[in-house]
Amino acid sequence: LHGGDYNPDQWQDHPDILEEDMRLMKLANCNSMTVGIFAWSALEPEDGVYDFAFLDKAINDVYANGGRIVLATPSGARPAWLAQKYPEILRTNADRTKRIFGYRHNHCFSSPIYRRKVSEINKKLAERYKDHPAVVMWHLSNEYGGECHCELCRENFREWLKKKYGTLKELNYQWWNAFWSHTYTDWSQIEPPSPIGERFGAQYIDWMRFVSYQTTDFMKCEIDAIRSIDKKTPITTNLMGFYQGLDYRVIAKELDVISWDSYPFWKGNDRDDIATANLTALTHDLMRGLKNDTPFMMMESTPGSADWQEYCKQKRPGQNTLGALQAIAHGSDTVQYFQWRKGRGNREKFHGAVVDHDGSENTRIFKEVSELGARLKKLDSVVGTLVKSRVALIYDWSNQWAFDDTKGFHKKDKKFISTLEKHYLPLWKRGINTDVIGFEDDFSKYDLIIAPLLYSVPKALEDKLEAFVRNGGTLLSTYASGYVNENDLCHLGGFPAGRLKDVFGIWNEEIDTLYPNEYNTVNADGNEVKAIDYCEVIHLRGARALANYTSDFYADGAAVTVNEYGKGKAYYIACRDEGEYTDTLTERILNELEITSDFDGELGEGLTVRSRSDGENLFVFLENFSTSERVTKTAHEWINLETGETVTGEIKLKRYQTLILSGKI
Ligand code: GLA
Ligand code: ZN
Repeated sequence: LHGGDYNPDQWQDHPDILEEDMRLMKLANCNSMTVGIFAWSALEPEDGVYDFAFLDKAINDVYANGGRIVLATPSGARPAWLAQKYPEILRTNADRTKRIFGYRHNHCFSSPIYRRKVSEINKKLAERYKDHPAVVMWHLSNEYGGECHCELCRENFREWLKKKYGTLKELNYQWWNAFWSHTYTDWSQIEPPSPIGERFGAQYIDWMRFVSYQTTDFMKCEIDAIRSIDKKTPITTNLMGFYQGLDYRVIAKELDVISWDSYPFWKGNDRDDIATANLTALTHDLMRGLKNDTPFMMMESTPGSADWQEYCKQKRPGQNTLGALQAIAHGSDTVQYFQWRKGRGNREKFHGAVVDHDGSENTRIFKEVSELGARLKKLDSVVGTLVKSRVALIYDWSNQWAFDDTKGFHKKDKKFISTLEKHYLPLWKRGINTDVIGFEDDFSKYDLIIAPLLYSVPKALEDKLEAFVRNGGTLLSTYASGYVNENDLCHLGGFPAGRLKDVFGIWNEEIDTLYPNEYNTVNADGNEVKAIDYCEVIHLRGARALANYTSDFYADGAAVTVNEYGKGKAYYIACRDEGEYTDTLTERILNELEITSDFDGELGEGLTVRSRSDGENLFVFLENFSTSERVTKTAHEWINLETGETVTGEIKLKRYQTLILSGKI
């Protein structure tokens, strides 16, 4: 699919524009429109009175124009009459103030009335459009997020805790409530995190888990309504990458397809854009991993600038195409935009769109979208193919919540995501496919697992990691790993947790947090490496030191170690470096394991590779994220998938160019 969010409900007084949309859609080489996302007040102008005329017309017009429809449920924003008639559907903030009507996402996920009203309209939509040949996908709501602290939600939280812990005694123990006299004697005493109350460790993590559960429960209500009528059309909802408000693995279980909204901050200079490309790549991999690495959808992206960024910079010519093909390289089967046409007023009127206020096909952005659409038509054989990886990076939402929120270490910014980026970059720039996995995924299919900042290690994870290495896997982890269990209770008997001490062959006695202008120096094979932010004082229990600290009271102590365990190996980096050492060590491990890119040529700065395959054919995306030409060389004979020409020997890629090559596996 190539298309975008389409809001004909905003243009009911402009039939000429609606007609023009169809002409432009063809010219833009777009074949899909996502409709109905925030259209509730048009679809149900008063309680129980429905009007589908505009939607009928839009869906029929798009279909007649050769397009397909992604059909949204409207729960992301409610009509004013609904909020006025049933004020309980609106959210209560964490400080217990009740919200008034306004904005979107302003609804209580527990409210029985809201659930009823959403179910009713979802059923009406399903009844009306389930057999419409244009409708290929359901798009639930929009970017589920946020939380509600009304009495009902707080009560549901307590019920959720009862199910999790069984007894108050157990909860009191897991939350370590003897501290500051917190022992509860009745479930009703438990409160979620609040600025007028408090927020601490396990209480916060459990609340976030509950919010994930409750949001999913609300979403299931939407799904049930649709599924009671439409048994076949696949269902998705648009996610937001590393969004911290929800554990997406909980949501993903209920979806047929993953989709997400990708808004990278391109800056137009090499240094920043390589970092942006790296983070975007990592996020695509995270999203793809939510559904077992099956293809996903890039549900939103902006063809121009996003109106909410601090500086609403336009994408440079070529960057939209580059970002779109990057998504495909990482497993997306769609390129979709927010938005098709800029609205005339209210918010988002200056947010990038395929069609600008001038209303023509003559803009730079329209032309680029159209050219991209023409290219996408030649990529049919890539649709449905898979990304195969030998390397995985572990990312878990609860783990980040626990680490970021805990007292200690660096108070303001523990640099969680940027640390992940640092560990992903060596893989990205070497063009090595990588999966992002959670604690419950299958570890055994990987040769290398990288687990930075694995602060929280539940017993089951400890066992899985131990088995992974014992059976021949290579594990790389870092400082601040294996400190607590899933409820933020510290592991007793020394870090890292339990048998991980044997797996890594170390005992971590203490961690030192460095001031921003401070550093220690590490000697790694004669090279001096700066250790910043965190330095752990570790002891060898069988491991070999690869690098040692050179100063402070832990001078000469090990800073990086490797341990042979069972048939595998476990590496431990006890301090944070600026990235270069992580790169060197990762390269060394990749070489040892003979993990290589699917493209044989050397990759200069900003040039990278990702691949997809159908088991027989390999599709290699060679992408130049830099602002200048890159030259590489291949010994293979490839086919340029778009032109059919043979490609071998020297390959030149212009600034922001993507070359898609196919070959046999
Ligand atoms: C989000 C929303 C869209 C729109 C865009 C703007 O992704 O889903 O409705 O607001 O942001 O970038
Ligand atoms: Zn509520």
